[in-house]
This record gives sequence, structure tokens and C-alpha cells, in this order.
Amino acid sequence: WVLMATARSPTNIAVIKYWGKRDETLILPVNGSISVTLDPSHLSATTTVAVSPSFDRDRMWLNGKEILLSGGRFQSCLREIRRRAEDVEDEERGICIKREDWEGLHVHIASFNNFPTAAGLASSAAGFACLVFALAKLMNVKEETTELSSIARQGSGSACRSLYGGFVKWAMGNKEDGSDSIAVQLANETHWEDLVILIAVVCSRQKETSSTTGMRESVETSSLLQYRSQVVVPRRLIQMEEAIQKRDFPSFAKLTCADSNQFHAVCLDTSPPIFYMNDTSHRHVQLCFLVYCICLFIRLLDYRNFQDRWNQFEGTPQVTYTYDAGPNAVLIAPNRKVAHLLLQRMLFYFPPPSEKELDSYVLGDTSI
Ligand code: DP6
Repeated sequence: WVLMATARSPTNIAVIKYWGKRDETLILPVNGSISVTLDPSHLSATTTVAVSPSFDRDRMWLNGKEILLSGGRFQSCLREIRRRAEDVEDEERGICIKREDWEGLHVHIASFNNFPTAAGLASSAAGFACLVFALAKLMNVKEETTELSSIARQGSGSACRSLYGGFVKWAMGNKEDGSDSIAVQLANETHWEDLVILIAVVCSRQKETSSTTGMRESVETSSLLQYRSQVVVPRRLIQMEEAIQKRDFPSFAKLTCADSNQFHAVCLDTSPPIFYMNDTSHRHVQLCFLVYCICLFIRLLDYRNFQDRWNQFEGTPQVTYTYDAGPNAVLIAPNRKVAHLLLQRMLFYFPPPSEKELDSYVLGDTSI
């Protein structure tokens, strides 16, 4: 017999970034972080886990290709889930697995991403969240989502935030065993429905410096990271929570792009420096400011309350951006109207490539 469970988990985009670990084995961060979980129909991982007495070892396939399970992260997740496994009975098929039997059974895992792996779009977040959730279902684990988040964290830090929809906070915690380093939902997926998130895939190639290596080097060499984690982020987490609760887009937008900028500044402050953004990424940032100017201009056309409108507009971006460990832009607009304007400008800024250019893009980067 074979017993299976399938789960789908979306990716999440951090608006206050996690960068740096204080414990590499348990994956404990140097600061807390906040993210927004995307709609699973767009960027998600789908994982099927199967167990059978005929399996002689644990095996995994990612997007159809078998991968080696030598790393400790996968084993940590599997070990933690097995520890919490319960009895499973399927009377119809005559299957009965006692909780103590799980130790001797092996699993086969097949996982698919519907977006580029390791291109800085948090594929490991969706992947590990999905794996942990599917294993928990298969082994009849009864734990709360918070507990599952701390297991997913041991696969990949950002994965702990993908177990919830909406806005999620990963509290850094202080305990040495990591038991208080968990994710909690700040607001569910219906809380801020107007928000539109656009992802511009600039490059789908695997990044040169993985997040794990990059953050290790930053912890060892960047003094800006120390300042960021001890002084800047604690303050920003409070401000961001407030902005989300109040659906205050100007504050949300300012904090989001400021935090992305500082994260990439930490990467540049690392020795050797890490460059995740490229020229196309920088042009997307310019585009956000261009849209801001257009919105400002449109509003100012209403002369009646010129001074009021000017005051209200100053320093309040109408679209914001954030970049994870890669060049792909995540652009956030307060509503569909502004998102539409942004898309129009984007097509103007980055015209679709000609046939000839497309050929040369096959091995290289695309504009959008
Ligand atoms: C820039 O969670 O991929 O996306 O814990 O080593 O697996 P590991 O790193 P990972 O790092 C994500 C870093 C980030 C910011 C974020 O998602 O908060």
C-alpha cells in the first residue's frame, strides 16, 4: 500500500526583511520580520508526500528531477514531524500505522514550483512550508499552525511565514532552543484587499550567492547589519504593524522601500560585497518614482485645494517596491487604478523585446 497527502503553499514577500542568523542550525534570526503572503494561485509550491512499507529510503523530486537529501534541513523537518506523528488508520484499505511505526517508514516527496527556483522569489519559503504541512497531514500531526511554523523555520527561515495567509510576523524570539521564534498572523488575507502586488521577473536564473551564504557573510563582516538588527528593525516592526492595522499605505510604502534599500545596503556592506539587484532592478525603482510624480501631477490638477493636496502628497509614495535576494522587482500599489498606471508605464519603459532580441535573451536576462 501507499498512503499520500498533497498540499499547496504560497510564497511570501518580506516587507521587513530577515537577514542574518544568530543560530545556523536551528535557523534563528538576528531580527524579526514581516511579510505578505501571496495568493496561492500565482506563486506557489505543490508537494505530494507518500509513505509505503516498500520504500527503502527517503527520496525527493523537485520539478521532476531527483535531488540529494544530504542536507540537514530536510532531515530536521522530517525528524520534528515524525516526533509528533500520531496513529493513522484507513479501515477501507486495511492500513493501520501506529505512532511508533513512523520511525521505520520512509517517505517519497514530489514537489513542484510554478515559478523560478532560487531566483530570489522565496521558493524555499513556499517549498518548506508546503513540505512540512503535507508531512503533518500524512502523519496526522495535531499541532497548531504556530508549532508547524517553527518546524518549517528549520527548513528555511522565511518558510515559517508561508503557513499563514495575509500579513505575517516572524518574532525573532530570545530563547536558545528557538521555541519562541515563531510566526504569527497579523491580519488575514481579506484585511487589505485593495493592495495589488506585481512581480516583474527580471531574471529567472539561480542566484549566484544563496541567501544562506549571503547572510552568513553579512553577519561576519557587516557593521551595518548590527546597527540594522539592533536599532532600526525593532522600531520598524512596530511602525509596520501599525501601518498594516490601519491600512495606511503611505507609511507602509515608505517603510517597505526603506527596508529593502537597507537590506541591499547591508549586502553591499558585506565583504566581499553581494550584488542582488541589477540595472533592470534599478530602472524599476526609477519607474516607481515616475509613477509617484504622475499621481502627484494628476492630483495637483485639481487646483481648488492646491496647498492641502501638496502637503498631503509630499513624501507619500503611491507605489512601493521591495527586492529579496535577487533582481526581481516586487511592486506594490494601493489599488488597481495605480497598478494599471504602473503597468502602462512599465510597458513604455520596458518595451516588449523584438524577435531578434528574444533569441539573445534565451540564455540571458529578460527586461520584464
Ligand atoms: C532576502 O529564508 O531563503 O528573502 O533561512 O538560509 O533558508 P535561509 O534563508 P531564506 O532567506 C530569505 C531572505 C530574504 C528576506 C526574507 O524573506 O525575509
